Amino acid sequence: MSSLEDQAFGLLNTYSNGFMVSQVLFAACELGVFDLLAEAREPLDSAVVAARLGASCHGTELLLDACVTLKLLRVDTRRGKAFYGNTELSSTYLTTASPTTQRNMLLYLARTTYHCWAHLAEAVREGRSQYLKAFGVPSEELFTAIYRSEDERLQFMRGLQDVWGVDGRSVLSAFDLSSFPVICDLGGDFFKDPLPEADLYILARILHDWTDEKCAHLLERVYRACKPGGGVLVVEGLLDADGRGPLTAQLWSLNMLVQTEGRERTPAQYCELLGAAGFGTVCCRRTRGLYHAVLATRGPPAPCFPEVSGAF
Ligand SMILES: C[S@@+](CC[C@H](N)C(=O)[O-])C[C@H]1O[C@@H](n2cnc3c(N)ncnc32)[C@H](O)[C@@H]1O
Repeated sequence: MSSLEDQAFGLLNTYSNGFMVSQVLFAACELGVFDLLAEAREPLDSAVVAARLGASCHGTELLLDACVTLKLLRVDTRRGKAFYGNTELSSTYLTTASPTTQRNMLLYLARTTYHCWAHLAEAVREGRSQYLKAFGVPSEELFTAIYRSEDERLQFMRGLQDVWGVDGRSVLSAFDLSSFPVICDLGGDFFKDPLPEADLYILARILHDWTDEKCAHLLERVYRACKPGGGVLVVEGLLDADGRGPLTAQLWSLNMLVQTEGRERTPAQYCELLGAAGFGTVCCRRTRGLYHAVLATRGPPAPCFPEVSGAF
């Protein structure tokens, strides 16, 4: 094989084993490996970890060593015996007690999203969510259609909060919002319920759940609720202008296909939706994080040119 073929074959294997990497991370979280090592305050050998987790010695050793290679754990060898501890990454993001923990989101991905992705080919073929198929949820249960149970809904909400805890600051500082004294973060049944009075509405990680038609309906409702000079801040992961990157936003878009009715969008697509709902000015700002901000205000009609600034 030429070195080019070697590289291509290596890349292919990295991609095909990608789900196994996720599962190592998910299993270690589910079993409580990172919390156990954080609470132990000293590195532990695999037999002790296995005993405290109530898991098999053989399986635990394999999992811990895979975590070491993935830099999720570190290992010190003393007199031929391996002792495992958390790395900075796992201490920061994978232990329950860390203020920046992502554990809830990882558990949601493991318990819900992963199962929907097993049906990706069918989702592409049918062009619709596989949630009902993955979990056998009766389709008449419309509102709970993306949550199997209250536990799952809470797990998802905690997961969203985990990500927001790390990424929220950069989104909320993308624009100076000081001219909006009353800000309302919309949730619940915003398609039907009257919207509370506010100067600025936030639609965070909501439009990507819905079709263009439902987004148009929701944005028209928000526009009608806005005072002149008021507006809406849309928080979403943005696709590049041609829709072919960044990879995270593309994967989220496929995730919206397998789990919801929606998709991720480009700045121009948000601009079009917001402009059609009546918003006069629309400004789009990318942050250095996963989520970005689109601010639209109710004012005199103006041409809709998204201003894209920031790290990209
Ligand atoms: C992805 S969550 C985003 C929550 C929050 N804005 C955030 O960023 O963390 C979607 C929100 O849409 C609301 N929602 C409205 N109609 C819904 C429906 N039919 N199914 C699920 N969620 C719905 C839920 O209350 C939930 O708060």
